[in-house]
Amino acid sequence: MVKTQENVFLINTDNLSYVFHVDKIGLILHDYFGNKIDLVDFDVHALRVKPNVGKGTSSVYDSEKSPDLSMDAIPLEFSFPHKGDYRTTPILLKNEKFGYVFDFKFEKFETREPKPLEGLPTPHDANEELVLFLKDEKANVVIELHYLVFEKENVIARNVVVVNESELELSILKALSYQLDLVNKEFELTTLAGSWASEMNQQTQLLVEGKYSIESRTGFSSARFNPFFMLKERKATLNYGEVYSFNLIYSGNHLEEIELNHNSLVRVEAGINPFCFDIKLQKGEKFETPYAVLTYSDKGINGARLNMHHFTNNHVIPSQWNNTIRPVVINNWEATYFNFNESKLLALAKDAKKFGAELLVLDDGWFGARNHDRAGLGDYSVNKKKLPGGLKGLSKKLHKKGLKFGLWFEPESVNEDSDCFRAHPDWIIKCVDRKPSPSRNQFHLDLTKREVQDYIIENVSNTLKSAEIEFVKWDMNRNMSDITFNDFEPGEFYHRYILGLYRILSELTKMFPNVLFEGCASGGNRFDLGILSYFPQIWASDDTDGLARQVIQSGYYLGYPLSTISAHVSSSPSHQLLRSTPIDTRFNVAMFGVLGFELLFNELNKYEQKRSLKLIEVYKKYREIFQFGDFYELETYSDNYRKWEVLSKDKKLCLVGYHLTIQKLLAPEGIINTTGLLEDKKYKVGVVELDHNIKDFGGLVNIITPFHVNPNGWLVNVLSKYKTMGGEKDNYTVYGNVLNNGGLILNPEWSASGLNDGVRVMKDFGSRLYVIELDETN
Ligand code: GLA
Repeated sequence: MVKTQENVFLINTDNLSYVFHVDKIGLILHDYFGNKIDLVDFDVHALRVKPNVGKGTSSVYDSEKSPDLSMDAIPLEFSFPHKGDYRTTPILLKNEKFGYVFDFKFEKFETREPKPLEGLPTPHDANEELVLFLKDEKANVVIELHYLVFEKENVIARNVVVVNESELELSILKALSYQLDLVNKEFELTTLAGSWASEMNQQTQLLVEGKYSIESRTGFSSARFNPFFMLKERKATLNYGEVYSFNLIYSGNHLEEIELNHNSLVRVEAGINPFCFDIKLQKGEKFETPYAVLTYSDKGINGARLNMHHFTNNHVIPSQWNNTIRPVVINNWEATYFNFNESKLLALAKDAKKFGAELLVLDDGWFGARNHDRAGLGDYSVNKKKLPGGLKGLSKKLHKKGLKFGLWFEPESVNEDSDCFRAHPDWIIKCVDRKPSPSRNQFHLDLTKREVQDYIIENVSNTLKSAEIEFVKWDMNRNMSDITFNDFEPGEFYHRYILGLYRILSELTKMFPNVLFEGCASGGNRFDLGILSYFPQIWASDDTDGLARQVIQSGYYLGYPLSTISAHVSSSPSHQLLRSTPIDTRFNVAMFGVLGFELLFNELNKYEQKRSLKLIEVYKKYREIFQFGDFYELETYSDNYRKWEVLSKDKKLCLVGYHLTIQKLLAPEGIINTTGLLEDKKYKVGVVELDHNIKDFGGLVNIITPFHVNPNGWLVNVLSKYKTMGGEKDNYTVYGNVLNNGGLILNPEWSASGLNDGVRVMKDFGSRLYVIELDETN
């Protein structure tokens, strides 16, 4: 809800408030962003920074009207350079008359029914929109500050619009989506850094005086730095203390800047990267920046995380997919790579069906001459050698087996060796008179061109109409290079590409509202809220290793809900790292996301097959809670463990994934602690029933055999197919307040012990899933 009182503006959501005011010379000063307050009977002055203004030589101020105010020493709601604020600013403009010097003052405001941006994704169903108009009267340029309010999710989405009302051409050299000035509270900044197959590594550092920035210049949001970041007061933990989180609804180059100045003020701003950015506005034209997302919680990292998760599910992903259970897919990529044909796919489908898959995704290689990554990209004709009955024939056969059908596309690129490139060599992104640089043997199509957009829309939609196809995996496997320009300025290229992409995604998802689209960019090279505005889930990483995925998914969880994170159970040793992880671990990690398969089932050993049958049942039973429940990361007392929780909305059912990295002798007692259970209610805690592979015990198997056997010999091999060893019994009935606070203590981990139901055999990279249910006899 937006309230105004004299010159003060207050934005309230369920749990937070955001306050600013217009000062006597028309600057907008930021007052507060924190726990909820009300203006009634409230002295806003109490919240304000009272600057110690030196009129000394280093302060620059408005000489007549406001000699006591230096722009450098106060929190501002929006700032611009060359009038005394020497911090980084969200805007840099230029025109012929005023050069770089602009001076914006408050003009008016309005509250209105929220309106979507033109060509950029806009979060849907906001409660309200506030718009402030700032004007440079002399230059005739207007800046609009927009605030979309999402009350239940405690999120404010902000953007900036620049309008040129002058006869003179206006260059926009930098236009970020917001600025936020906070008083420093020993803030720590967490960013998510990575690369191909190693996305979303959390890095946390204390802010010191100076400016820190993360960015992408690859043309896309990129795995190098996700646009999500978080600021927390130093003492904040998972469940306590003040945390601010930020994200951007955009898929292109981005920049996030965090600056701590000598006045202990922290400036936060983010938006489109000004790198090679120069937008020209003629009279009457406007430029809209993408929406950024801001949230705050005093309930620690988990509090801010939940706000972001709820917001993404309720207001970013297309509404028809919110709370819509996602299917278990079998994707043939790691199972066959390019080497498949119809009969191989049908055999895979038959096995997959047995193991609970509901949809087969046919990955790369079904079209043109695409038998490797050097040819065929850009073409849409089905490879009849591999699929004699075409897509229609395959789809029919799959549906007959009870499986739905999904298809991989990579529409934004072409191989040089493709019919598309041969017919339209001028469609690729390339700079005049220069040889473009390939990546994975492919070039980007120039999506700034309408005819290229139409080619993609037409071919993808015709393919989708040609057979019963319920799922699309939309891939994009290179970074941009050789940017160019057509009938516009070179400084507009990067942004225009993204606008072209959004037009395509918007058209296709409108044409096929029931097709589930999954984003992908070599895994997580374009995992952002822009893509999620069209595609409700994204393939999170090409690394499917059970341990590596824990790190990757933990990073995603900071900003993105589990329903958006596609995670597959693959074979062991993993193709990426050659690390062996237990089948339980691979399942327990993929369950905290949208679980699917990416393997040949007949390459699982008998033990793994048996466990898979059991674990897929467990997943399906609780799938809705995994995908749409409330997620919490749980406190651990050593870096060797990682604990994840999902909780049903009614708090009756809670699932805890407990993951160990390296087994240690006499390891600390395992603790199951939770967040959010009903404090005064009893819960029954149990571990998902275990079966250990007897091969895991090596030579110790001789303790239970009447004669000596070779642990690597035929007898143990045969035995292991039929016989498993029971696991520990960790069953308890405990009050919610015990689980939420101290936690309960599990049986000890195996430490040169004998096997009985009071010992937890975890092994390296081991994992457990605990089911915690409200005791209905309460
Ligand atoms: C990318 C994707 C993979 C797979 C291949 C196909 O690497 O991330 O999942 O689709 O392309 O070429």
